[in-house]
Amino acid sequence: MNWKKRNAICNDFAQNVINPNEFKQENYKNKFILNGWIHNVRDMGGLVFIDLRDRYGIMQLVIETENYPKLAEKAKALKSEYVIWAEGNLRLRSNPNPKIPTGYMEILLNDFGIINKAELPPFEIVDNLDTNEELKLRYRYLDLRRHSLQRNFIIRNKVYQIIHRYFEKHNFLEVETPILVKSTPEGARDYVVPSRIHNGKFYALPQSPQIYKQILMMAGFDKYIQIVKCFRDEDLRSDRQPEFTQLDLEMSFIERDDILTIIEGLFKELWKEILNINLPDKFPRMTYEDAMLQYGSDKPDIRFDMKIKDITNIMKDVDFKVFQDVLSQKDGYIALINVKGAGNYSRKQLDNLTDFAKKYGAKGLAYIKINESGEISSPIAKFLNDNDIEAIKDIANAENNDLILISSDEKYRALTILGALRLELAKQLGIIDKLKNTYSFHYVIDFPLFEYDSDAERYVSKHHPFTSPNLDANNAINMLNTDPSTINADAYDLVLNGNEIGGGSIRIHNSEVQSKVFELLGLSDNEKEEKFGFLLKALQYGAPPHGGIALGIDRIVMLLCGTDNIRDVIAFPKTTSATSLMDGCPSVIDAGQLKELGISLVK
Ligand code: AMO
Ligand code: AMP
Repeated sequence: MNWKKRNAICNDFAQNVINPNEFKQENYKNKFILNGWIHNVRDMGGLVFIDLRDRYGIMQLVIETENYPKLAEKAKALKSEYVIWAEGNLRLRSNPNPKIPTGYMEILLNDFGIINKAELPPFEIVDNLDTNEELKLRYRYLDLRRHSLQRNFIIRNKVYQIIHRYFEKHNFLEVETPILVKSTPEGARDYVVPSRIHNGKFYALPQSPQIYKQILMMAGFDKYIQIVKCFRDEDLRSDRQPEFTQLDLEMSFIERDDILTIIEGLFKELWKEILNINLPDKFPRMTYEDAMLQYGSDKPDIRFDMKIKDITNIMKDVDFKVFQDVLSQKDGYIALINVKGAGNYSRKQLDNLTDFAKKYGAKGLAYIKINESGEISSPIAKFLNDNDIEAIKDIANAENNDLILISSDEKYRALTILGALRLELAKQLGIIDKLKNTYSFHYVIDFPLFEYDSDAERYVSKHHPFTSPNLDANNAINMLNTDPSTINADAYDLVLNGNEIGGGSIRIHNSEVQSKVFELLGLSDNEKEEKFGFLLKALQYGAPPHGGIALGIDRIVMLLCGTDNIRDVIAFPKTTSATSLMDGCPSVIDAGQLKELGISLVK
C-alpha cells in the first residue's frame, strides 16, 4: 500500500467528543492519520491551512512552513477534491471557529501524501450550492459529497432503522415480493421487461406489491411489511419519481382503525427520534367530502384556515348570466374563499390569479375587493344588491382589506379551483413559509369507491380495484348491481401538510364481490380470467379479512429533511423526463440483444 490508512475521522475531533475546555495536550501524544478530500487550502505565509473533508465533517490541518518547508510547498500545490492521507498531532486552535463542530481543534501535520488527484470540479462542494440542477445531476457523485445533501441520507437511514425496529416489536414479518411481475394496475402505466425465453411476452415492474401482499394474507402471513421499490411510468413532478420507495404493509383479521393506529404509532416514533417532536396519539380523521367542501382537495393543508364557503344559495337569485347558466346545469355550484389582507391586490395580480385558475379548468374568476376604508370594487358589483353583498361578507367573515374570490362551476371543479387558489395564495402571502416547522397529520377517510369516467363511459376505481366497499358482502353485491356511484370505500389516505404520504384500504376478501367490481371496471369475463384469474381463485380458498396501507418513504423523508424536492432524498434520482443524467439511461440496446428478445423497433 503506498498510502496511509486513517485511524481517525473528522468527527472524532468535534466538541461533543473532545471538550476544548478540558483538553490536555499531554493526553494526545499519538499521531492521527486522516483520509479525505481537499475542501480548500489557504497559504498564510508562516502557516498553510488545509480543510479536509470526509463524510463526518471538516477538519483543519495546519503545516508550519518554517519546520516543514517542503511539506508546505507540496501543500500549496494541492487542488480541490484531491484525495489525501495526512498525519499529525491534535492541538487546540489559537483562533477557534465555534460555527463548526470541529472548530476548536486542528491537526499539526508532520506528513501527508496525495492518494489521487482530481479534475477541477464543475461546481464548488459547498452546502449552499446555487447552480444549475442539470449540472448537479450529471455530476451526482460530486453533488452527493456536500454535507447538506449527505445529511438527508443520514435521516433516511434513521427512518429505515426506526421502521424495522418498530415493526419487529409489533410482530410483523418482512417478506420480499417479486420485481418481475404480472402487471397490477394502480392507475399509472407499467414499465415492462421483455422476456428472452418467451418472445413476445413481457414482465411488468410492480407499480406496488398490492396483489402479492394480499396473497400473502391468504397464505396466512397475518402481518407483513416490506420497504420496497415501486415503478410507475407517469408524469413526474417535484414529489414524484418513476421509481420510488414504499413502506408497504398488510394485516389480516383487522378493521380500518387497527391500521390507522399502528401507523400513528410509527409516526410518533419517527418524529420523536428524528425531530424531537411529540405528535398527538391520534391523528384527526376527515371525510373526503368534508376535505373537498372545505379545502377543495383530497389532501388538504389544514395548517391554515382560508376555508371554502358555499354561496350557491345566496347567488341563486342574482341576475348574472354566468352564474345562472352554471346553476341551471347539473351540480352547478358557487363558492368563495376569503383571502385576508389581500384587498390591495392589483389588476395584474388578479389577472394572474385568473390565469392560474384557468389551468384548473376555470372559465373565469370573480372577485370582490374590500379596501382599507371598506369600499368595494368588483366586476360583478353591478349584479349584486346591498343584501347580497352583506350576505357574502357575512359568510366569508370578510373585513376591510380582504379579497373574496368566487368560482362558479360544476361542484367538484369549482371546489378544486378554489382549493388550488387557496394553496397558491398561501404561498404568495408567505403563510406556508411561516408554517415550515408545523406538522399537521390527518387521515382522509370515506372516499367514493368509483369515479365515473365519461370519456371511457365506465367506472374507474378511486383507489384501486381491490378496495372494499364500506358494506358487508351481501349489501355490496346489491349496491354494485344497483347504484355503484353512491358506494363509499373503506379507504384512507394519510396527509401531512398537504402532501399525500400514504394510502390504503380494507380489501375485498370475497371472490364474488371482487369479480363484480372487475365487471363494473369494464373487464370482460375473458379479461377477468386472463388478468386476475389467479386472485379470484386464491380468494376462494379461505381468504381472511385483510387490509393495509403503503407509505411514500421518499416523500416522508423529504418532509423530515425540510426540503421541497424528492430528488434531494434519493441518491440517484431521475429528471422530470425520467432520464438519469449521470449514466444516460434509458439508452439503446444493441441489435443482438433485440434479436434475442424477438423485438424489432418501429422507425
Ligand atoms: P398509492 O398509489 O397511494 O397506494 O401509493 C402509496 C404512496 O406512495 C407514494 N407515491 C409516490 N412517491 C413518489 N413518487 C411516486 N411516483 C409515487 N406514487 C405514489 C405516495 C402514496 O401515498 N398499493 C397501494 C397501497 C395500498 O392500498 O395498500 C398503493 O400503492 O406517498
Ligand atoms: P364578464 O361579465 O363575462 O366580464 O364576467 C364578469 C366577471 O365574472 C369576470 O371577473 C369573470 O372573470 C368572472 N367569471 C366568468 N366566469 C366565471 C365563473 N365560471 N366563475 C366565477 N367567475 C366567473
